[in-house]
Amino acid sequence: MDDKKALFDEITKDIINCTKCALHETRIKPVPGEGSLNADIMFVGEGPGRNEDRTGRPFVGAAGKFLDELLSGIGLSRKEVFIGNVVKCRPPNNRVPLLSEIEACKPYLFAQIAIIQPKVICTLGNTPLNTLIAPNLSIGRVHGQVFEKDGFTFIPLYHPAAALYHNALKDTLKEDFRKLKAFLDELKMKNL
Ligand code: URA
Ligand code: SF4
Repeated sequence: MDDKKALFDEITKDIINCTKCALHETRIKPVPGEGSLNADIMFVGEGPGRNEDRTGRPFVGAAGKFLDELLSGIGLSRKEVFIGNVVKCRPPNNRVPLLSEIEACKPYLFAQIAIIQPKVICTLGNTPLNTLIAPNLSIGRVHGQVFEKDGFTFIPLYHPAAALYHNALKDTLKEDFRKLKAFLDELKMKNL
C-alpha cells in the first residue's frame, strides 16, 4: 500500500518537473490526476482545461460536476475512484493534444495504470479511447462496450463535456454508467 504511494509520488514529481513536450511552456499547473490508488475504476480524460490548469486538479469545471453526478448516481464518490488524463498539461485554448504530445506524456499514464491496477479503465471521449484502446475507434460506435487489451479491461464512455453540448448524451452516459455498475457488481459476485 505504502509502496504504491511512494511510486505514485515519484511519478507525480516527474510530471511536475516535466519538460518533455511544449505544453509545459504554457501550462499554469500540471494536473497529475487524483483519487484512490486502490481504485477499482480509473477514469481517463483528454487533458486539463482552464479550471484544471488553474487548480492542478482533474475535472473540476462543469464537466467535472457532471462526472460527480454520474458517479453518485451509481453510489460512488470521487475519493473511491481515480481520475486522470492522457496529457497532464493543458493544451492552449483546449485544443486536442497533438500525437507528439500524447506520445511524450503516455509513459506517465501507463505508469499510473501499472501502480493502481484498476479492475476497469473508463476512457472519456475519443482521445483516451484512441490512445489506450485503438486508434481507429470512434466513441459514438463503441461507448458502453467492454474491451480487453494488454491484461486490462476497458469501458469507453462519452466525455461528460460532450453531454453539456448535446443534451441527449446525458441519458446515454447515465445508461453507460449503469452498465459500468452492473459490470463491477458481476466481478464482485464472482470474487474477481
Ligand atoms: N476535460 C478533461 O478531459 N480532463 C479534465 O481534467 C477536465 C476536463
Ligand atoms: Fe510533460 Fe506531459 Fe506536460 Fe508534456 S503534457 S510537458 S509530456 S507532463
